[in-house]
Amino acid sequence: MHAWPMHGLVLSTPTLTLRGLTEAGALALASVVPEDLDHDPRFPELTSAQKSLRSYWQAQGQWSAGDWVLQLAVVVDGEPVGLQALEGKDFAVRRTVDSYSWLVPSVRGKGVGKRMRAAVLELAFAHLGAEVAVSEAWEDNAASLGVSRSLGYRDNGLDIHRRDGGPGRMQRLLLERADWQAPEPVTVAGLEACLPLLGISPGPDQSAPAPAPPTAS
Ligand SMILES: CC(C)(COP(=O)(O)OP(=O)(O)OC[C@H]1O[C@@H](n2cnc3c(N)ncnc32)[C@H](O)[C@@H]1OP(=O)(O)O)[C@@H](O)C(=O)NCCC(=O)NCCS
Repeated sequence: MHAWPMHGLVLSTPTLTLRGLTEAGALALASVVPEDLDHDPRFPELTSAQKSLRSYWQAQGQWSAGDWVLQLAVVVDGEPVGLQALEGKDFAVRRTVDSYSWLVPSVRGKGVGKRMRAAVLELAFAHLGAEVAVSEAWEDNAASLGVSRSLGYRDNGLDIHRRDGGPGRMQRLLLERADWQAPEPVTVAGLEACLPLLGISPGPDQSAPAPAPPTAS
């Protein structure tokens, strides 16, 4: 029994495990976080490791059923190699998830990024009732765009954001439930206790007595 239920959430595929990030897990990931990530530019005094820890604490501290960021540690051969996050804003109504991720450079380009995104998409579409998944990446981030396109997302317009002091083009992508097909099986454990915190009503309580039929008057 986990006081913070997301700590008990585990997604398993034939080759990967994604574990709800704990503080110990966040500290382990901070020791391997790469330097080439786009971090929040508001904290230039923090190192990459400190920014990744801040992001973990922020996600937990600002959690609400109406606005959550589920962070999962990506484990390959028993080693933490990256982070996969799934985000839901007003999920109960919008049924839309966003995501972000990173991997240590040594495991990139081998299909891990695609499989870890697929694992959280399967969680979203098959278990949470998502209808749409969105994503965005700088238009020169071929790996991130490659993950999205190879999983069936389609281009959904451009945004212009500040990048290194100038304008940068951000490609938006969108995947609808009808176009989703998981590339490999995903087993989900520990989800039931998380549902209320994700803004999802649990199913009807089968143990509750059926309401008495109305009496004729
Ligand atoms: C983005 C990231 C998680 C992708 O993971 P990855 O393991 O490198 O990607 P994969 O090996 O699973 O590749 C997925 C697809 O993208 C393609 N791809 C990967 N890297 C590519 C590159 N540099 N150029 C072109 N295509 C690329 C692959 O060919 C594959 O497509 P396919 O299935 O049609 O063959 C990883 O590269 C990373 O950590 N990058 C730095 C952090 C980052 O940019 N995160 C995204 C922003 S939130």
